Amino acid sequence: MKQTQDLQKQIRALLKQKNALMLAHNYQRDEVQETADICGDSLALSQAAAKSDAEVIVFCGVHFMAESASILCPDKTVILPRLDAGCPMADMITAEDLRKEKERRPGVPVVAYVNTTAEVKALSDICCTSANAVTVVNSVQSEKVYMIPDRNLSMYVARTAKKKMEWWDGFCPTHEKLKAAEVLKAKEKYPDAVFVCHPECRPEVIDLADAVRSTSGMYVFTKETKAKTIIVGTEMGILYRLKKENPEKTFILASKSLICPNMKLITLEDVLEALQGMDRPVLKGFNSGIVKVPEDIRIPAKKALDRMLEVPRD
Ligand code: 13P
Ligand code: SF4
Repeated sequence: MKQTQDLQKQIRALLKQKNALMLAHNYQRDEVQETADICGDSLALSQAAAKSDAEVIVFCGVHFMAESASILCPDKTVILPRLDAGCPMADMITAEDLRKEKERRPGVPVVAYVNTTAEVKALSDICCTSANAVTVVNSVQSEKVYMIPDRNLSMYVARTAKKKMEWWDGFCPTHEKLKAAEVLKAKEKYPDAVFVCHPECRPEVIDLADAVRSTSGMYVFTKETKAKTIIVGTEMGILYRLKKENPEKTFILASKSLICPNMKLITLEDVLEALQGMDRPVLKGFNSGIVKVPEDIRIPAKKALDRMLEVPRD
């Protein structure tokens, strides 16, 4: 505990000294979220980075998120405290894969979930998040849409979207682990509970949900629901703020396997090392690094993100 507080103190002092903003995704370790200036979902964090006056962004999340921050704020230095923190789902489709899929479907717009690499976004027509996917798909001026990379999010959108949809067969290995049997068991144990899950979950899990929400949507849902017990179907890091913001409610993680190993890589030691080492050249064995999207990719990728931001909210 003392060590955590010492690290937090050193980090906060360095952030001030270097005019840096520390961002933490909703799935980060509790102590990382506790130290950060802002916690949130992937897109909201990048937007917060773009609005801020800070020169340096310390992005505690996974690689595609730091890339999105670099796309939206090219003049800032974006640091990822663990360069090896990737998103396996984002890596399931490459730019080459997408080029081939587009050749097979001439004229069909590509909707890319933000969980994609910058190169893939650059080849896409419009981005979406789990919070606005249905609205974005419906906004596209075409009868057909090709959605990447998450089959579960795509199948969820296809339930209600007014489009003919096809999708890439990617998935989130963490959300995929949650099985319907585990949800049924939790529901049996807590019969008065409501079950909220992320759209990256399997369709048979979604069928059991009282609400399907993005990470940011889950904070709103849990505040609004009258239920006192909430079974949660997403990465366990979300519990930190859910419990803090709703001390009178009980949260049950639907499965012990809901841990994203990549989201758990960044420790406070890594954040400190990143801040201390940011002026040094990159050394071998050094975990952190600057994430910078080259201009020839950044500009088309930003267009896809900007198109999404222009879509009116529901
Ligand atoms: P958000 O876009 O809600 O932050 O989620 C990102 C993610 O990685 C979900 O698994
Ligand atoms: Fe990627 Fe899944 Fe981890 Fe989110 S939870 S970062 S989608 S692997």
